[in-house]
Amino acid sequence: IKIIIIDRNGNEHTVDAPTDMNMNIMELVRAYELAEEGTIGICGGMAMCASCQCYVLNEDEVELPEKNPDEEAMLWEAFNVKENSRLGCQIAITPEIDGLKIELAPEA
Ligand code: FES
Repeated sequence: IKIIIIDRNGNEHTVDAPTDMNMNIMELVRAYELAEEGTIGICGGMAMCASCQCYVLNEDEVELPEKNPDEEAMLWEAFNVKENSRLGCQIAITPEIDGLKIELAPEA
């Protein structure tokens, strides 16, 4: 599937994302090195750091998973949270999110 990612410098990247590797959006950003090393995925994808926060720009065009309680709680505490904030590590790469467009939140 394709995922569109706007990095922290405002550059847009359309990347191929595998649905068969048990990967999430945070790991995808890391795999393509779209955020500076050490600034994303700090908690290892446990919904405990919010370094993977992103803004979803086309919510209506994809079928995102509901927020789980851990994600809700972390977004309650995190900085720069908007209505369309999600934690990248809690969004699995599945066919339902083909075409998802996100913008990485600023480094907190
Ligand atoms: Fe820490 Fe997502 S990597 S909350």
